Amino acid sequence: MSEKKHNEALNKADLEVASKMSAAGECPYRLKYHFMPPIGWMNDPNGFVQFDGEYHLFFQFNPYSSTWGPIHWGHATSKDLVIWKHQPVALAPSEFYDFSDDCIHGCASGCAVIDKGNLILLYTGHVETRSPMQVQCIASSNDGIHFIKNSYNPVIYSFPKDGSKDFRDPKVWRYQDSWYMIVGTKQDDIGKIVMYTSNNLLDWTYIGVTAESNGSQGDMWECPDLFPLNDRDILIISPIKNTKNLSPFYMIGNLDYKNNRFRHEIEQTLDYGFDFYAPQTMIDEKGRRILIAWMESWLSVKPSQKNGWAGAMTIPRILELDTDGYLRQKPLDELTRIRSNHKHMGPFEAENFRTLMDCGESVSETIVEFDLNKTTAKIFEFQVRCSQDGEERTVIRIDLLNNEISMDRDNAGCGEKGISKAPLPYCESGILKLHIFLDASSIELFINDGLCVITNRIYPQNDSIKCNIIPENGKVFICGIDNWTLCSIWE
Ligand code: FRU
Repeated sequence: MSEKKHNEALNKADLEVASKMSAAGECPYRLKYHFMPPIGWMNDPNGFVQFDGEYHLFFQFNPYSSTWGPIHWGHATSKDLVIWKHQPVALAPSEFYDFSDDCIHGCASGCAVIDKGNLILLYTGHVETRSPMQVQCIASSNDGIHFIKNSYNPVIYSFPKDGSKDFRDPKVWRYQDSWYMIVGTKQDDIGKIVMYTSNNLLDWTYIGVTAESNGSQGDMWECPDLFPLNDRDILIISPIKNTKNLSPFYMIGNLDYKNNRFRHEIEQTLDYGFDFYAPQTMIDEKGRRILIAWMESWLSVKPSQKNGWAGAMTIPRILELDTDGYLRQKPLDELTRIRSNHKHMGPFEAENFRTLMDCGESVSETIVEFDLNKTTAKIFEFQVRCSQDGEERTVIRIDLLNNEISMDRDNAGCGEKGISKAPLPYCESGILKLHIFLDASSIELFINDGLCVITNRIYPQNDSIKCNIIPENGKVFICGIDNWTLCSIWE
């Protein structure tokens, strides 16, 4: 009976996608190599997993509007994390725990695991005016495409004594012979993650609070992720403070299973841009810890909405701990497959404003290395997506006096403005490496092999493709620049 209701809701959503797809496809801001929804609204990545050799990405999806609404799980698959194929909608609101006729409702964020050859989704059922408002649910599939909600749902009905009605975004993993689940919550304006354990994914026992805000790290913790990397454990949190979403941060420490406590020494911002939220990781069959995040923010102006869609994902990033114990995010190696038209420049010195004739492309990848030992300018800019007259531009500014790197999108086009600032990572060798991914409406900047990352959406004119170097009071020494055009992954 309930399977029928779910299937009807899924069919309706799929018909909506099919009928609107070509219109959204016309939008100039459609990305060429980033994942985005076929139509409608997309936020968090969900259920990121590899199943039977194929990568699966689910996402918070409203097929009926380009704004957030009754939230479904959209679905796509990929053999290499580069070329994506849209699949039928995986989860639609249909049951008393995730659907309501008269209030906000839906299948909120969650994760995926593989159990006994089945692909299992764990998600939060949300019904705004019900008590409890948020409950944890599961759905399973044996073909990786069609999902059946479990008749046992919700598998966690009440929020725990340490939490509150904000109780969402389960992340589940297997350790030794048990399943573990963390869920984001809050109590008395302190963000927390709480942990459960289970032997069968259906019956969950509450263990307690694994980590919580120290008072300054957010009053609600969303989309937690906790995983081992080398001999450490990494906890990632997407925090809310005073109803505003803050930048996700990570902590490097160790999870003490016996006492259910995560203790950490290092805490850092994961990405210093405005458009990076709700990251989720998975481990693939090659043993790589791969992260993908929503490349957007809740409150920003989204110019694509008038064309029937909104939301994108970052490129997949490999997480590594380096020998100094720092976390690095590295662009997925497979992305080199869409490179074409390679150009190399350098070494050279720039003393005045200089346009890099061979670097201008709107959809491109650029690696530039500066030798700071031979650079006398204390401040210099690398500008991308510049118009011919220079009025429109996205400015990467390196400030060696204040050891700061910033990305200024005040003149970047018709989208949101603002300057993202990050500490300039220390580089003993004196070489500063910028790795820049530009797409039709985005920029991701990886600094010194992913020690620091800045991700922003930008909406320049199509023909704003110049790239300039601007030293201030001195010269800049460029060891080399490599630039590629990147091909579209969409048919
Ligand atoms: C994070 C979030 C999650 C929630 C989802 C709803 O962006 O608020 O906490 O599950 O979005 O779409």
